[in-house]
Amino acid sequence: MNRRQFVTSSLAAAGVTLLANNRFTAAADQVPGSVPSSSIQHARFPDNFLWGTATAAYQVEGAWNEDGKGESIWDKFTHTVGKVKGGTTGDVACDQYHLYRQDMALAKRLNQKSYRFSISWPRIQPSGTGVPNPKGIDHYSRLVDAILENGIRPFCTIYHWDLPQTLEERGGWPNRDLAGYYADYAGILAKHLGDRITVWAPFNMPWSFTYMGYGAGAFPPSRANYGDFLKAAHTVTLAQAEALRAIKAASSKATVGSAYGMCPAYPKSDSEADRAATSRYHAMNNVFFLEAAMHGRYPKAFVAEPPYELMGFKPGDEKIMYAPLDWVGFHYYTRRIVSDASNASSSAGGSFSGTEIETDSEGARDPYTRFRAVMPTEGPVTESGLEVWPRGIYDLVTQISKEYDHPIIEITESGCGYLDAPYEKANGRVPDTRRIEFFRQELAELARAIADGARVRSFHAWSLLDNFEWANGHCERYGLIYVDYRDQKRTIKDSGFWYGRVSTSNRLDV
Ligand code: BGC
Repeated sequence: MNRRQFVTSSLAAAGVTLLANNRFTAAADQVPGSVPSSSIQHARFPDNFLWGTATAAYQVEGAWNEDGKGESIWDKFTHTVGKVKGGTTGDVACDQYHLYRQDMALAKRLNQKSYRFSISWPRIQPSGTGVPNPKGIDHYSRLVDAILENGIRPFCTIYHWDLPQTLEERGGWPNRDLAGYYADYAGILAKHLGDRITVWAPFNMPWSFTYMGYGAGAFPPSRANYGDFLKAAHTVTLAQAEALRAIKAASSKATVGSAYGMCPAYPKSDSEADRAATSRYHAMNNVFFLEAAMHGRYPKAFVAEPPYELMGFKPGDEKIMYAPLDWVGFHYYTRRIVSDASNASSSAGGSFSGTEIETDSEGARDPYTRFRAVMPTEGPVTESGLEVWPRGIYDLVTQISKEYDHPIIEITESGCGYLDAPYEKANGRVPDTRRIEFFRQELAELARAIADGARVRSFHAWSLLDNFEWANGHCERYGLIYVDYRDQKRTIKDSGFWYGRVSTSNRLDV
């Protein structure tokens, strides 16, 4: 044993790992929720696993009023003083509307196999209905060509939150008519792009945009009315199914799935009441829209019967909303601890945290679901404030696999916000070791779920590049590529190079 081996082995025995940058840290397996390094070394992914990244139109495109694009609710929101941290907007964002060729070339450099992007509805139909804007269609047609030319699979999210403002003025998602307008829009996309796109997800995180937009008011259109949330959610359920049919009618190659936001939920105690509250959380936040599509019914999210009247549910809707998905896509970021709040005297929403809502310690989130959901901080917390809990992805993937009879699964997003920037003393590189560690740990748990039989075929890191983080503006960075917003210069972070090696080797110790 030479000196280096001796030092390394004695440090390992002491529970310490020597990192490449010569810093000593506690071994990963000592951090709550983390996985032992042997799992990382042994993790393998199947051949043909689709390594990808995800973005959303409003967060990356910019060009907010070019080529006939209409105003979206996010344009209006960010143009309202006081809504976004730092006072920034998505007017320019990463300028991907103009720089998409460069960005797809960068994705190829990272050996990417899949790119999940979203289409801006007001580029296609500036006021939400009627004949499509040819310039909008042309843009996405060129984008899809650029994706394919780089050997990457185009994965299209039809709606990632940027509703045409005109449709909001007609009542927004609580107005049931939007289901039909949305299905027309989806059909237009499938007709014009369905020769090249075969993978479609109707909605990104339907619970988040309906609840945050209509129930809690933290996102546009800034309404805070539980009835509006329920109506919006029901319209979205109808829209999801109508869109699936419209897409398949227009494109025989189409497959339709989802891009739901999910958090594995754990009961606060072993009591019957907390366990029942945890199932209600799972039903409301994770599988509400999935159950609707797969079985034509709503899951048991409410303490009593679903408030059908408040939802605007009409007889026969269970047939409309039934539209089994070809595969199931969902995101994983963090977990929740849930407790019962059936006897809480107040039901006062809670505080906004990213794309979730934390119920305060006193009240229930609302008078119908009657639970409290809190993000714990037992594990480390990212700079965006989310707890890192690698084991959560294993639990979530195995739970969904079991509940939905082993569907094909796509992980549509996962990632972490850290602010690392180019470092002069490292020749301008971005040494974002915390992000590498986040993905390494989490992906080891995903590999374990696959080894245990889950049919996961893809993983999309959020995000290809730093981008406009909604109400948090430019205060958070989730990219594998750093963006300098002053001149749009892109710098591949160390995590990006690492992810590229993972994609080539299907292993994590690279
Ligand atoms: C959303 C993204 C967002 C990311 C990080 C995801 O759930 O889909 O739009 O940027 O979370 O907060």
